[in-house]
Amino acid sequence: MYLHKELETMSRSEIKQLQLERLKKTVNHCMNSPFYKKRFDAFGLKPSDIQSLEDLKKIPFTTKEDLRSTYPFGMASVPLEQCIRLHSSSGTTGNPTVILHTRRDIDQWAEAVARCLYMVGLRSNDVFQNSSGYGMFTGGLGFQYGAEKLGMLTVPAGAGNTKRQIKFITDFHTTALHAIPSYVTRLYEVMQTMGIDPRRDTDLRVLLIGAEPHSDEQRKRIEQMLGVKAYNSFGMSEMCGPGVAFECPEQNGLHIWEDYYIVEIVNPDTLEPVPDGEMGEMVLTTINREAMPLLRYRTRDLTRILPGDCPCGRHHIRLDRFKGRSDDMMILKGVNIFPIQIEKILMNFNELASNYLITLFTSNDNDEMTVEVELAKLLTDENEKLKSLAKEITRQLKDEILITPHVKLVQKGTLPQSEGKAVRVNDLRRHF
Ligand code: COA
Ligand code: AMP
Ligand code: ZN
Repeated sequence: MYLHKELETMSRSEIKQLQLERLKKTVNHCMNSPFYKKRFDAFGLKPSDIQSLEDLKKIPFTTKEDLRSTYPFGMASVPLEQCIRLHSSSGTTGNPTVILHTRRDIDQWAEAVARCLYMVGLRSNDVFQNSSGYGMFTGGLGFQYGAEKLGMLTVPAGAGNTKRQIKFITDFHTTALHAIPSYVTRLYEVMQTMGIDPRRDTDLRVLLIGAEPHSDEQRKRIEQMLGVKAYNSFGMSEMCGPGVAFECPEQNGLHIWEDYYIVEIVNPDTLEPVPDGEMGEMVLTTINREAMPLLRYRTRDLTRILPGDCPCGRHHIRLDRFKGRSDDMMILKGVNIFPIQIEKILMNFNELASNYLITLFTSNDNDEMTVEVELAKLLTDENEKLKSLAKEITRQLKDEILITPHVKLVQKGTLPQSEGKAVRVNDLRRHF
């Protein structure tokens, strides 16, 4: 059962006091990590230099590149035998990123997710269904453990197979569903074809939507379609996964749990702090993690801190709806993809030239990707050869980016040539 309500309702001064305590402890603990030890030495920094929350700014940023260059275990702050799980997600090229967890980390992560679920009114008599992918996708096991901690009956349906997903919702009387916002439309459309009216034929009352940017209009539309309340859920693998920030019943921003994270918002170009309330890149320091704490991690996610107190009475600060990224990462079907991953595969084929275009679009309520790529030389009357080439490219791309793109081979000189930096991604997705 969910136990630690006092942490959820701390005053500002209590939050600050706990943050400083945990920051000092974390920085000391980080000296067990070969990466941070070396970095602190390189900057002539000692853990004792961190005596206030302001002192955090003395610590250099940690980036996704750091995670990749220390792959797989170079950032661990505990011996590997104390770790019980890792999650890995795609990097830009080459090495993916890895986050290690001790038993305590997994338990604290579940606690954070349980706190979010409790906050939006879910209780042990609810039935919780998860349409996230399990395995390495943290939205799977992350929500699973949190929902179990709360004591709900859980339905770990996983991604895909929409008809079966809907059968579970009706047969098991699912009351709460975790889904990616773009997938909810697909669910709704398939319900229509099955003659199921979600308001009449299901017990759904709460939707937890996240993993990709979406608008308030999109949220309202989901609420209206399914007859539910839909709450924005923010998470990222580097910070565990889901449970980082969540909307409360006021639905006016996402409370970020400050007993787990210290938040900074910086200008992504200058890396200087932005004035209060302005948009910038979110930088997070984990202060409640054992296996692999991260100091001043550049999330690349763009948001701002909302001014003022939330009428709900919680004092953990609120983040505005996320507006996108300060890098070129795309999120399609809840999967993170960097254009360079696609480019790397394409450039392995001698038959291909270097000009390509990625188009994201919505078709039959599914988000899809087309990869158009120019052939190196003019090919005519070689249809069979072209088909098998496209098939092999599709297979290799699917292995790399986890979703299935539509590959189109086009004649050299057909794709637009852009001056300067090539425009590689055309996002035509329509969400309402
Ligand atoms: N969540 C759940 N199911 C999804 C989905 C999503 N975001 N996007 C698509 N699907 C469904 C499709 O509707 C389809 O099922 P249906 O035909 O029964 O309706 C099925 O998954 C396969 O989709 P398709 O587009 O044909 O396959 P793909 O190879 O391009 O993508 C997925 C494969 C869907 C399995 C992959 O995109 C995935 O695992 N997505 C979920 C990622 C996730 O959980 N992220 C959460 C991070 S917190
Ligand atoms: P992952 O590491 O696979 O969990 O993906 C994390 C990324 O997904 C974040 O860094 C964001 O870019 C994006 N993301 C997750 N939740 C949200 C959300 N609620 N709104 C907007 N973007 C989100
Ligand atoms: Zn609130």
